[in-house]
Amino acid sequence: MTSSPSILVVDDEPLNVSLLEAFLAPKGYNVLTATNGQQAIDIVKKSTVDLILLDVRMPILSGIEVCKTLKADPEFQLIPIIMISALSKMQDRIDGLDVGALEYITKPYNLDELYARVKASLKVKALTDHLESAEKVLISLAAAVEARDEYTGFHIDRVTKLATALGEKLNLPEQELDDIRIGARLHDIGKIGTPDSILLKPGRLTSDEFDEIKKHAKKGYDLCFGLKTIGNGLDLILHHHEKLDGSGYPVGLSGDEINLPIRILTVADIFDALTSSRCYRKGLSLEKAFEILFSEVKEQKIDGDVVNALKELHENGAEFHQRN
Ligand SMILES: [Fe+2]
Repeated sequence: MTSSPSILVVDDEPLNVSLLEAFLAPKGYNVLTATNGQQAIDIVKKSTVDLILLDVRMPILSGIEVCKTLKADPEFQLIPIIMISALSKMQDRIDGLDVGALEYITKPYNLDELYARVKASLKVKALTDHLESAEKVLISLAAAVEARDEYTGFHIDRVTKLATALGEKLNLPEQELDDIRIGARLHDIGKIGTPDSILLKPGRLTSDEFDEIKKHAKKGYDLCFGLKTIGNGLDLILHHHEKLDGSGYPVGLSGDEINLPIRILTVADIFDALTSSRCYRKGLSLEKAFEILFSEVKEQKIDGDVVNALKELHENGAEFHQRN
């Protein structure tokens, strides 16, 4: 947030807009105004907005619809919204909060109360801005780790896209898809602690070197532990090398101890490793990659349903692998 927060006031009654503008601008806020819902969305898309004061009943696009649209867009969903409405029925209030409004104020309102809620909502925004930037720092760090190894370029992107597509195909709930998105993006961040001499070694690794590589799962977990927005994505970072028969690392989880989002990330990670070129070999063909994946399914190391879903995605023409 900049030193002077921007508040967007949206109301189809110009007098209400002027009243709020006259009240808020002298308090040091940068006030933007709109008189219908569509205009409000256009302003949010092209300006920085830290808080929206949103009338509910408006022509063209109602406040509820504006709120729904913004909350569905990852780029704008963290902007707090205070709904302001003459509607005072309990159900209207519930509808407003249901679509993601932070507060709901009924007209006529007391300006001091409104001001208190504006300040509280902007505090929430400042906090989420901090959390978001912490997440961005870690994601850049993960990309920097990847950039050390020219052979794994775009591995993170491909694994994230593939794991998300598999999660959607297997009907995971939205929350678990979010865990996959962030977990996949950060899964190998712990490799920041792996020496180049091991990470970039062209030949076969000794068992000591492999032990060193294995540490990246726990290192990544420790690095991201404080990240408030990560949720269960943290488990994906820690466990993406576990195997169903208990032979994986770092914990040696087995069977039901490994949940579906983790199983999905594991398959996506292995598939991408097999089909991409590495410093010690060229990427394998799709046929050969699937042959290896299905043999791992047979050995009860990875999830057969996930590998079948991956096969179906490919048969339907989706391309998630590196072209060699
Ligand atoms: Fe890994």
